[in-house]
Amino acid sequence: RKKLLVDADCGVDDAQAIMLALAAPGVELLGITCVHGNTSVENVCRNTLRVLQACSRLEVPVFKGAAKPILGRCINAGHFHGEDGLGDAPDPDAPGLDRVQEEGAVSAMIRIVNENPGEVSLVAMAPLTNLALAVKMDPSLPSKLRGLYIMGGNTESRGNTTVCSEFNFAADPEAAYIVLNEYLCPTYLACWEFTCYSKLSWEFCDAWLAQDTDKARFMARIFRLSMAASQSERLQKEFVDGSGFVSCDSYAMAAAVDESLAVESERHAVSVELTGTHTRGMMVVDTAGFLKKTHTASIMKKVDMEKFKRMMMAALQ
Ligand code: BDR
Ligand code: CA
Repeated sequence: RKKLLVDADCGVDDAQAIMLALAAPGVELLGITCVHGNTSVENVCRNTLRVLQACSRLEVPVFKGAAKPILGRCINAGHFHGEDGLGDAPDPDAPGLDRVQEEGAVSAMIRIVNENPGEVSLVAMAPLTNLALAVKMDPSLPSKLRGLYIMGGNTESRGNTTVCSEFNFAADPEAAYIVLNEYLCPTYLACWEFTCYSKLSWEFCDAWLAQDTDKARFMARIFRLSMAASQSERLQKEFVDGSGFVSCDSYAMAAAVDESLAVESERHAVSVELTGTHTRGMMVVDTAGFLKKTHTASIMKKVDMEKFKRMMMAALQ
């Protein structure tokens, strides 16, 4: 069985990615660590529990992590994911926060990886604060990972949060810097522009949500607001190249679940801007080797879309 540990800021696409993993055959979800990002870390814990409840999988442990970035100010994405981070469509019977584990996210991450050396694929779909803290506590952590899958960063300096930066990197640039420079393990990046080039058509989304299941009905409720936001003229400009929905985090998750999903990638050393008038949080791709780094990341360029759509479909069945 494939062991996954997921770090999330449970917004709408995080929820989609988690549901994809829960439905994937042969996947063992060892836990979900929560972090600030799309909304407060408390809301993230609540949302994660709601998603697990919708899939009748509340046995998956949920851990609470960092409430703030390492240095910068906290930002959120309420305009897109809703004030509560999950479409402002509350469940009357949502599980309480008492279901969150006592152990903190960073300790849990270190413990789980050390209990399963060489076996865990870590899927990071949020600001990288928990991962940065974990590697500072246990520098041997990356060497014990099977792989690290990150949704974040950008390759063409097209931002969705500031002019040049993608949300997960913009929300904690220092953490992104630490992770890209200290996780010297097989690293796979689903960057913003790539996810935009791999949009799901609105026809697909309609068919996806029309499935006659409780999971599809749950998704339709939490998805309404970000679907409408995605179709707004203002956001269309951010969503590079044509119309459709960008389920950003699902690409990183799907690539971790099925290692043959990415059919085209490029390997480069990468880093992130920490200062700059317009560029703080922007990912830097070292195509010519100026940084003299030996560690490179695999930057996804193209995925098998038919396979990806099948995985998404299965997520709501
Ligand atoms: C990323 O930012 C968040 O809003 C999404 O959940 C995703 O992880 C996309 O830039
Ligand atoms: Ca996310």
